[in-house]
Amino acid sequence: MSVTGHVYTEKDVREFFDRTLKTYLSFWDDDGVLHTGYFSGDDADDDYRAASERTSEVLAADAGIDGSSYVLDVGCGCGNFMIHLARRFGCRGEGLDLSEERIAFAREKLAEEDRRDPLDVVFRHGSATRMPYADDTFTHVVSQDALCLVPDKPRSHSEAYRVLRPGGVFAFSDFLQPKKEIGERARRHVYDRVKWNGGYSLVGYQSALEEAGFEIVLARNLESHIRQTYRVLGATARERAETAADPAARDWMLAFAESCAEIQIAIDHEEFGWGMFVARKRDRARP
Ligand SMILES: C[S@@+](CC[C@H](N)C(=O)[O-])C[C@H]1O[C@@H](n2cnc3c(N)ncnc32)[C@H](O)[C@@H]1O
Repeated sequence: MSVTGHVYTEKDVREFFDRTLKTYLSFWDDDGVLHTGYFSGDDADDDYRAASERTSEVLAADAGIDGSSYVLDVGCGCGNFMIHLARRFGCRGEGLDLSEERIAFAREKLAEEDRRDPLDVVFRHGSATRMPYADDTFTHVVSQDALCLVPDKPRSHSEAYRVLRPGGVFAFSDFLQPKKEIGERARRHVYDRVKWNGGYSLVGYQSALEEAGFEIVLARNLESHIRQTYRVLGATARERAETAADPAARDWMLAFAESCAEIQIAIDHEEFGWGMFVARKRDRARP
């Protein structure tokens, strides 16, 4: 629930991600990557791009993806993770996203890749709560910082379960809501900023996955990495605001830098966090 008491719907989330594509491309990452960085552990590491690539590497390794995998990336955004996996491991894959703008961008990127060397990848517009795939299709369902945005989370978990083959792997990173009570500032700068109603704690997430039929393989608390992500992005926004010629771009960057400072406070107050999970689809017939 937002500061004003509004509960965000899928339509609100879709409109937000359609509307903000250009802004994020111009500031965050011009390839369209939009996820938390996995930093080296050194406090002086301020290379967001390398950290965001490391997140994909860590998640792919934890998921156990290889050339025989058939992967679905849910909330794939601009398609970078799925393209990376197909290029790196030679696997097949699909990317699904609620934002038509982001899927259009992913398809253009894929067409460019295909001209160089074709990949076995498809991008589709659709929701995590109504996945356009048959039962038992994929060996892996992956996701980066997207599932938290789904208003009906049990529904998206049961969809991930349905489209995975028995024994298949559900591996993802996601925002966490470590404690129930969220102050007004965190609500405004963290939750309302991206149309997020709220989510699970590290422990609560594992219970929700078990309820959907998964067996937990791994759950990491990565709070220090999300703090570093917003420290680095906030510093970049402040620096760029100083030289921005366009007043609207400067105002956006200053507002974003302020939110980055508030986000770090929210992390310290356990109002926000980040985690990585790997779970396996149990065969319901054989508990
Ligand atoms: C923070 S971005 C992450 C994008 C991408 N995973 C990445 O790492 O760059 C979250 C993405 O989740 C998508 N999303 C939100 N709700 C969704 C839903 N119900 N079904 C599918 N995608 C959704 C958004 O459109 C957005 O592209």
